[in-house]
Amino acid sequence: MKVRIAVVFHSQEKRNTQRLASLVAEGCCSVDGMSVSLVDVSNSSPSMDCVREADGYAFGSPNYFSYMAGGLKAFFDGLWLASNARQSMVGKPFVAFLTYGGGGNSARALLTPGARGRAVRSIERLARKFGLRRVAKSLVCRGHPSDASMDRAIKLGKTLADHVAAARRSAPRMRAGGQ
Ligand SMILES: Cc1cc2nc3c(=O)[nH]c(=O)nc-3n(C[C@H](O)[C@H](O)[C@H](O)COP(=O)(O)O)c2cc1C
Repeated sequence: MKVRIAVVFHSQEKRNTQRLASLVAEGCCSVDGMSVSLVDVSNSSPSMDCVREADGYAFGSPNYFSYMAGGLKAFFDGLWLASNARQSMVGKPFVAFLTYGGGGNSARALLTPGARGRAVRSIERLARKFGLRRVAKSLVCRGHPSDASMDRAIKLGKTLADHVAAARRSAPRMRAGGQ
């Protein structure tokens, strides 16, 4: 049976985050036996089934005022209210990715490493509230992804998929050990 990864993202301004999401998905698919759902939460809430059934997660957002964007926050809120979805997520692996603006205009203070650090940590913190465990350093990318960022996004997806595959392999052994 295919192992499922949900790549959940908000992206609307320039589709920078969507580009990263596609590359993370590409990295996931490079590992045998993985299937990926790209879940765009920019304007709508997804069915909780595809989330509940996933074995691993990637969460992506633009930096909106040093926080994750509203679509991703609304997604986490909905997930929290669907407590049966929440329970099924404990211990599963996740990664996070973020894009932020540039241009050095009057919003310079918003472009500091501290500000984008706060934005990506807002995603990491909420994911941990669901009992998820981060398996790689989060990817932070300015504007349209550069070639280097694109490579990192593919690697991030592959790392996630490797962890998901390893968890899957050890699950039957753990069940057998617990009997
Ligand atoms: C409402 C709004 C708030 C934003 N706030 C910030 C910010 O605080 N810091 C920053 O670096 N960029 C900020 N940006 C720029 C976006 O993070 C950046 O353009 C991002 O790559 C857009 O991603 P997307 O194309 O996937 O929507 C903001 C953009 C919008 C629309």
